[in-house]
Amino acid sequence: MIVLGFESSCDETSLAVVGPDGRILANLIASQVDLHARYGGVVPEVASRRHVEALGPMLDEVLAVAGVGWSDLGGIAATRGPGLAGALLVGLMAGKAVAFAHGLPFVGVHHLAAHVWANVAAHPDTPLPFLCLLVSGGHTTLVRVSGPSAMVELGRTQDDAAGEAYDKVGRLLGLGYPGGPRVDRLAREGNPSAFALPRARMDHPLDFSFSGLKTAVRRTVERWELADGPLPVADICASFQEAVVEVLVARTIEAAEAEGLEHVAIAGGVAANRALRARMAEACASRGLVFACPPLDLCTDNAAMVAALGRAWLLEGRRDDFGIAPRTRWPLAEILPLP
Ligand SMILES: Nc1ncnc2c1ncn2[C@@H]1O[C@H](COP(=O)(O)OP(=O)(O)OP(=O)(O)O)[C@@H](O)[C@H]1O
Ligand SMILES: [Mg+2]
Repeated sequence: MIVLGFESSCDETSLAVVGPDGRILANLIASQVDLHARYGGVVPEVASRRHVEALGPMLDEVLAVAGVGWSDLGGIAATRGPGLAGALLVGLMAGKAVAFAHGLPFVGVHHLAAHVWANVAAHPDTPLPFLCLLVSGGHTTLVRVSGPSAMVELGRTQDDAAGEAYDKVGRLLGLGYPGGPRVDRLAREGNPSAFALPRARMDHPLDFSFSGLKTAVRRTVERWELADGPLPVADICASFQEAVVEVLVARTIEAAEAEGLEHVAIAGGVAANRALRARMAEACASRGLVFACPPLDLCTDNAAMVAALGRAWLLEGRRDDFGIAPRTRWPLAEILPLP
């Protein structure tokens, strides 16, 4: 089954086609980052309008790049949530419209399950079950993945998501938006032991917390400003990144061992972080666990992951009618059981 996927949950407009064997045939991503950078974050209404402008021309292009026509398609998938209401609405409505016009089956896809499934899209031989650390702008969650519809949360952040902490620290250091990739780049030039920053331990052993770390970075910056010296930005980035990566890796290994899962994966925008990828690979190798991660363009928002999970859901027999609405909040636990 060849599936066309739509993604518009936040500030990336993306269209992708996944082929009959699950291979990605095309994955077009139009980022709005420059548009939102001047506001220091995503402006929902601006994002929705840009999705509307971008989608039409991308539709012809994605089919051309994939080398398929409408009659080759077996289904349509679009992100239903979670995400920004107006932004979600654009891709979801576009997906429904083309499914209706071409008489194709349609399914509304869970954005976070799709991030996780990017691992299978990238490596179709990924064995089930596997453990996935989902680290994105809005979520930090450990997920036991037994199938496209069977994802169980083992632990999650109790406050900020890891990506959110990166973005807030980036803002504190005057690095602009989005902070994550910029903090990552500067961290490579700094000393990770320069500042002693906290690693939070929660009551639930597989939960996370990053708000204390962010506050500790703020205090460090304030203290330095009082001393009136030049801010050691690279050292702060490196020390912050060290604290985040250490906790993410440690908690993931604990979860794999507690659950008896031998295959470990990562997903979401922060999974593009080089230090996290390298340290997770090392930690897994030293414990005899297998680690794999998606390529960078499948970590941040993209429609290939949506088309891939949509294809798996359609093959499982899932269908949505054209009455479904976006879900701005949609916990993984609320993915409905199979029909
Ligand atoms: N190299 C990197 N290092 C650290 N963080 C990064 C890196 N690249 C991207 N990020 C962070 O990833 C986040 C974006 O990821 P993603 O697009 O998956 O999140 P989102 O779609 O906004 O959130 P969600 O998927 O939870 O709704 C941002 O917070 C960004 O700063
Ligand atoms: Mg996302």
